[in-house]
Amino acid sequence: MAKSRVKYICTECGFDTIKWVGKCPQCENWNTFAEEIIEEVKNKRAVEKSTSEIIPLSRQPDEDETRLETMISEFDRVLGGGIVAGSVILLGGDPGIGKSTLIMQAAAKLTTKCLYVTGEESIRQINLRAKRLKLESESLHLLAETNVDAILRHVKKFNPETVIIDSIQTMFHPGLDNAPGTVTQIRESTSHIMQFAKQNGIAFVLIGHVTKEGFIAGPKVLEHMVDTVLQFEGEKSHSYRILRAQKNRFGSTNEIGIFEMRDSGLAEVKNPSEIFLSEREGEISGSVITATIEGTRPVLLEVQALVTSSNYGNPQRVSTGFDTKRLSILLAVLEKRAGLHLSAQNVFLNIAGGIRILEPAVDLAICASIASSLLNKIASTKTIVIGEVGLGGEVRSVGNIEKRIQEAEKLGFENIYLPQNNMKNLVRKNHLSLIPVRNISDAIEELY
Ligand code: TYD
Ligand code: MG
Repeated sequence: MAKSRVKYICTECGFDTIKWVGKCPQCENWNTFAEEIIEEVKNKRAVEKSTSEIIPLSRQPDEDETRLETMISEFDRVLGGGIVAGSVILLGGDPGIGKSTLIMQAAAKLTTKCLYVTGEESIRQINLRAKRLKLESESLHLLAETNVDAILRHVKKFNPETVIIDSIQTMFHPGLDNAPGTVTQIRESTSHIMQFAKQNGIAFVLIGHVTKEGFIAGPKVLEHMVDTVLQFEGEKSHSYRILRAQKNRFGSTNEIGIFEMRDSGLAEVKNPSEIFLSEREGEISGSVITATIEGTRPVLLEVQALVTSSNYGNPQRVSTGFDTKRLSILLAVLEKRAGLHLSAQNVFLNIAGGIRILEPAVDLAICASIASSLLNKIASTKTIVIGEVGLGGEVRSVGNIEKRIQEAEKLGFENIYLPQNNMKNLVRKNHLSLIPVRNISDAIEELY
């Protein structure tokens, strides 16, 4: 009945082919193909047993989706209000970043039955962690098992509301010969879990490790299968961690949750601006404060630049927390449109606190911090700089300007440099002095 054959699967994107190739035609990575044995079982009965039916859209289910709240508001908010019954969530992140800790703290707060399946650590280790985190829960249960079939049998009998699988890379389905952690095994195990979750209305949280490229290890295909993909990130050397939704079938992907790793586990950060600005050195060149929007919340951050002359060969451009390509573009704009000579300078850029910024509204602050370091001029510590910078050196308007201004006002800032075009929509009057800027050279002149 079962027929097996060999397939080659890209470990980055999951693309499969029957012939070995050096470069993946889908994700264009080199040498990413792994040989896998595929067992094909002709399952005629599955088709005959199918009970699907066509229903009109107008026939809607009476009940709303039920959500299980963990009461860790940073976690629930990212999920869009809690864990949806029957959904499958993938929680990805670097090894050691705190995934097990986060999920354990959240699981212990659930009031409904939850099963924590560990394939990485022993029950003893999990118990020790729970003790360290001072977690007490009547509803949380543990199981050490890596066989997906056995796990699902346990789940069927035990009937919990939520199941945590730590981690999906250690799981295997006994129907396949491949080793745990291979693309086929991860995909197969996940697809069994998905089916089971939907049929039984039980929510699953799968923990997955991330490779150095930043993908959930091996199969990016997992991301397409599951309902929600959460990414837990942060610099290991910093204590701040950010939870982001990369995909969410049940909520927005804009929200982030901010945590701090302490001895007693992860603590929610409710006022990120205060924390990110708390270690600021005062009046120092290269330091500029900006207001970004993370999800729906404004967050004030410090941008730091250090510009030094490069004596040998190619100048270095290093950035932490900001896209290096974008940095190169901004450097070119500064050179061409503001007349700053940067081509023979090393530029080091850092977003303080270990946070990563993706929105272009920080462009002007980055330019201002580079100019500050180059010219050795100091921006006032009571100043906030906001704006996107275009290739022509123009400062473009940004969204949510009112929220950014309010946050700056709340934290005692006095001046805000903002795009001229944002001025016309401002209705609220505030005590801050708003300084509109049209282009980058004006902004630098005004600032320094
Ligand atoms: P862990 O949750 O095991 O990471 P992951 O599951 O993502 O691999 O967390 C590992 C790190 O967190 C470890 O280096 C120690 C640190 N940690 C704390 O600082 N405080 C704590 O209370 C706990 C439980 C862990
Ligand atoms: Mg872990």
